[in-house]
Amino acid sequence: MGRLDGKIAIVTGAASGIGAATARAFVREGADVILTDVQDEKGRALAAEIGGDYQTQDVSDEARWIALVDDVVARKGRLDVLVNNAGVFMGATIEDTDLALWNKVIAVNLTGVMLGCKHAVRAMKANPGGPAGSIVNISSITGYVGLANGAAYTASKGGVRLLTKSVAVHAARAYKTIRCNSVHPGAIDTPMNQAAFDASGDPAGMRTFFSALQPIGRMTTPDEIAAACLFLASDEASSVNGAELLVDGGWLAAPGPI
Ligand SMILES: NC(=O)c1ccc[n+]([C@@H]2O[C@H](COP(=O)([O-])OP(=O)(O)OC[C@H]3O[C@@H](n4cnc5c(N)ncnc54)[C@H](O)[C@@H]3O)[C@@H](O)[C@H]2O)c1
Repeated sequence: MGRLDGKIAIVTGAASGIGAATARAFVREGADVILTDVQDEKGRALAAEIGGDYQTQDVSDEARWIALVDDVVARKGRLDVLVNNAGVFMGATIEDTDLALWNKVIAVNLTGVMLGCKHAVRAMKANPGGPAGSIVNISSITGYVGLANGAAYTASKGGVRLLTKSVAVHAARAYKTIRCNSVHPGAIDTPMNQAAFDASGDPAGMRTFFSALQPIGRMTTPDEIAAACLFLASDEASSVNGAELLVDGGWLAAPGPI
């Protein structure tokens, strides 16, 4: 028996990294998964490989959210799980942050999550048999601490952390059985970080550096983040609401390199 048997789940940003690992884990545990992304070729290939559906979706576009959620409910009958995972990293200190960069990062990382929560709750409250559902928002350790070279990224992830709590309190008070939680990855071995390592000119050195930041001495795998999403999506987490799940190998628990 799978931990998500019978559940209908949407995973955004599912063509790559954490989203791809989460979609895989959800299908393995019995969910019917709709993968969405803007990288259509990769998304379609993964969906075909694991046995899910793929839909193209820019998460910052509300009309697309409405159409997607309505289509899922029309075809599958309900929506049980949403993982708001799609995100972009654009490195810039506050001095180098222009309005175009700020608006892009906030649009995808924060507005996209807000729209996902809004339209998922709309569908989940109308599920046959009564309101039910779990929303998992991917924040970051930068939901807690500031990254100098990521002013907009840090602001977006801090926003996701507290938006999650507002959604959690509202949905629970209004519908009792709709939950919303955030996951906070540390240094994860995904294409997002590899791109930053490659751009640094010293990818191997950067990997060693980021591995050392986590007391476990290595970067966290996408599968390890997927495991956290799986728990929060499942009925095992039926009383976990408005929580923050750090998956950072102990990074934020450490006072520094000692
Ligand atoms: N990699 C890390 O170390 C790390 C750490 C903390 C948090 N996170 C967060 O985890 C999430 C996944 O990141 P990842 O490391 O797997 O990165 P990734 O780049 O491998 O995957 C992100 C996916 O989001 C998609 N995407 C980008 N813009 C989109 C949009 N407008 N609409 C829909 N999809 C869009 C991309 O095409 C990509 O497939 C992000 O929210 C990221 O901020 C990552």
